[in-house]
Amino acid sequence: MTAIHPIYPLNDPMPKAAADAPIGIFDSGIGGLSVAQEIARHLPNEHIVYYADTAHVPYGPRDDQEIRELTAHAIEWLYRKGCKVAVVACNTASAFSLDYLRAHYGENFPIIGLVPALKPAVLQSKTKTVAVLATPATFRGQLIKEIVERFAKPAQVQVMSVTNLDLVPFVEAGAQMSAACLQTLQEILQPAVDQGADFLVLGCTHYPFLKPAIQHIFGQKLTLIDSGFAVARQTARILIKNELLFEQDRKDAVRIECYVSGRNAENLKPILSRLISEDLTWTVENISN
Ligand code: DGL
Repeated sequence: MTAIHPIYPLNDPMPKAAADAPIGIFDSGIGGLSVAQEIARHLPNEHIVYYADTAHVPYGPRDDQEIRELTAHAIEWLYRKGCKVAVVACNTASAFSLDYLRAHYGENFPIIGLVPALKPAVLQSKTKTVAVLATPATFRGQLIKEIVERFAKPAQVQVMSVTNLDLVPFVEAGAQMSAACLQTLQEILQPAVDQGADFLVLGCTHYPFLKPAIQHIFGQKLTLIDSGFAVARQTARILIKNELLFEQDRKDAVRIECYVSGRNAENLKPILSRLISEDLTWTVENISN
């Protein structure tokens, strides 16, 4: 793997952050807000800094090295912003970056990653057929192959890979319930339903925002599973283990501070206000670098 250089040279060992520092969350775009909201609810005293690389979304069609470099850049930004941990709230970015990032930052800046939630689907499927919806890049990565080997194969569950490059842009545009998005979902998921899939693993953090659309088309035929709550629990575990959990009441403060690398932050506000639930306060601004 080609070396990835951080934005700024790191000469000294990283100092450990304090518990009152924010949790950094990164995604290629606004999809990782599905994870950020789970974390915000699960850890009500934590402050979140969310980095959306909207200048480069979608990552799905990009090659492995490019995904790795864009991810390294974003995580470095969160580190320099003073975050105490980083959550790579993107399956595509996690697929190519976790080993590198963990080796690079070491123990003082824990990196939490994502992998499609195949295990609970495999355990609960009655038809022994599970569909996974993810980007082509996620399916190329090693992480998904490992969980198929570890959970699906021993349980003799058939895993159907479903992929499509238009879904992330639909979510970025706030067009989840548009006729075009509904038609795309119908076309790509119907074959899985026809072949008996009873569970659909949402293997991209944009896709939980497609739940109403998928349920509108398929009703009870598909049970939808995503990684949000599991990642929130894992984040809590990592914070406790590293003595970084913030335990004072901070409920009145802004919960999610969003930064976007592309697109006009003002124009994004109406879309974000539909994605982020009303009980969570948030701000959004453009990143200058
Ligand atoms: N949210 C990203 C993921 O979980 C979207 C990927 C993309 O940008 O194509 O995979």
